[in-house]
This record gives sequence, structure tokens and C-alpha cells, in this order.
Amino acid sequence: MKLKNKVAIITGATSGIGKATALRFADEGADLVITGRRISLGKDVEAECRQRGVRCVFVEADHSKEEDCLRVVETALTEFDHIDILFNNAGIVTKGTAETTSEEVWQNTLDINVTAVWRMCKLVIPHMKKQGKGAIVNNGSDWSVVAGKDAFPYVMSKGAVGMMTKAMALDFARDGIRVNAVCPGDTFVDRWMEKGYFEGSSPVTLEAAIKEASEYIPMGRFGKPEEIANAVLFLASDEASFVTGHLLLADGGNTAQ
Ligand SMILES: NC(=O)c1ccc[n+]([C@@H]2O[C@H](COP(=O)([O-])OP(=O)(O)OC[C@H]3O[C@@H](n4cnc5c(N)ncnc54)[C@H](OP(=O)(O)O)[C@@H]3O)[C@@H](O)[C@H]2O)c1
Repeated sequence: MKLKNKVAIITGATSGIGKATALRFADEGADLVITGRRISLGKDVEAECRQRGVRCVFVEADHSKEEDCLRVVETALTEFDHIDILFNNAGIVTKGTAETTSEEVWQNTLDINVTAVWRMCKLVIPHMKKQGKGAIVNNGSDWSVVAGKDAFPYVMSKGAVGMMTKAMALDFARDGIRVNAVCPGDTFVDRWMEKGYFEGSSPVTLEAAIKEASEYIPMGRFGKPEEIANAVLFLASDEASFVTGHLLLADGGNTAQ
């Protein structure tokens, strides 16, 4: 019960890494506010968390909208009185080069992957400051530290998440607020089979994904959402009490090569 008596907000917990983290946090005793736009999936995750014996509230929210971010934080404070942990997980994966990226894709990627992360931090930091304690974990990517081809807007956004994490860690270290990022390598999520790796690309089959991973990832396989959740749990818990400004790579060795 590493998170007993803690309250956590997890953005984008309707599927993938966010959902796996919500379930893991619930297993560790945290009360939760979880968000996303897909109401039915969000309600399902809310029910699964409650079955684990914690309090959990799903808030339908589009984090590209300021008013929705505010409503999420207000809900956490109304329901639970305080906020110990913020996991900024909601994100989209966009494709293109500097030449082919449209203004719309650039703006969308910035809105959800960068601005929403800053905005959620800005909203919770005053409360964490008053408590003298808090842990923020941002979801970056292995592309927060190295670039990849034909993913220009996404790489730009995740690079920004890495530096936002470090800058905020410095600014709030004396307030007892730790700010870290988890940086997953390719992690197999349902979205890949529904929509493909990127917004607007083709769905991927499990067989093709397994083959691809075996070729380029040192460990020979993609990550699992539960494995990323374990890394988030460490950064969010008191076990990481002297860790701040850190980008924790969980990528099967991908960036070591
Ligand atoms: N899977 C990987 O290989 C990998 C690798 C590195 C980093 N990541 C990062 O991990 C995070 C989670 O992605 P995932 O791989 O787990 O994929 P996913 O299953 O598609 O999860 C994305 C989550 O973000 C939410 N979201 C997206 N746009 C949103 C918006 N405007 N407002 C509110 N919620 C929004 C989605 O919820 P709704 O659709 O319900 O709104 C969903 O819950 C992302 O930040 C991604 O960049 C993933």
C-alpha cells in the first residue's frame, strides 16, 4: 500500500498507460480522479478502481480546454480535500516532418501534449505548495531524449515535456514538490490495433508489432502498460523522496544503443 491516504489525479486514464496506472495506484491504496473524453471507457475504469476498495471519480474532460482542466482539479479538491500526486499522461501521437506538418496538427499536438501538461501543473502547484508536499509525474517518451523520423510534432512536444519537467523541478524543489517524467519506449496499447501508432495511420496487427519489436528493441519486445505504471508508481511514491528533475527511461534499452 505505497499510496495509502494519497489522492492522485491521472489524466487520460480511459485506456493504455493511464488506465494501467490507475489500476496500479488503486492497488496501492490511492484515491483517484481520472479523466478522458471517452465516457463509457472512463466509467469502466472508475468501476474497476472502486472494486479495488478505493474512492475513484471519473471526470469527462478534454485537456486542451482550460475550463476542463480547472474542473478536474476542482473535483479533486471537492471530493478529497487535497491533491498529492498528478500524473500528466493524456497525449496524442502525431506524424509528419517539419515540411509536411499542418498548422492544425502542430497546434493540436502542442495543446494536448504540452500546454495541458503545464496548465495542470499550474493548477495543482498552489495546493501542493500549501501542503509543503507533492509529486508530479509527466508522461514523456524515449523521444524526450532522442529524436525519431517522421514524427516531428510529437518529438517536439515530448522534448518540451522533458525540459518542462526539469525547469519545474528546479522552481519548486524548495516547496517540497518533486517533478519527474516517465519516458516510455514503444509500449503495446490497444490504440495501436484500433488506430495505428500515429493519429491517422493504419491499425497494426499483434503479429506485425511483435516482429517489429524483435528487430529493433534490445530486449526484443515492446513494453507493457503495466511496466510503465510501475515506473510511474516509483516516481509518484515516497520511495522516490530524493528524486526530482529526473527523466526515467523505461524503453527496453532502446536509447542505450
Ligand atoms: N504507447 C507508447 O508506445 C508510448 C510511448 C511513449 C509515450 N507514450 C505516452 O503515453 C501517454 C498515453 O498514451 P498511450 O500509449 O497509453 O495511448 P492511449 O491508450 O491512446 O492513451 C491516451 C490517453 O490520453 C487521453 N487523451 C488524449 N487526448 C486527450 C484530450 N484532449 N483530453 C483528455 N484526454 C485525452 C485518451 O483519452 P480519451 O481518448 O478518452 O480522451 C487516453 O486515455 C501519451 O502521453 C503518450 O504520448 C506512449
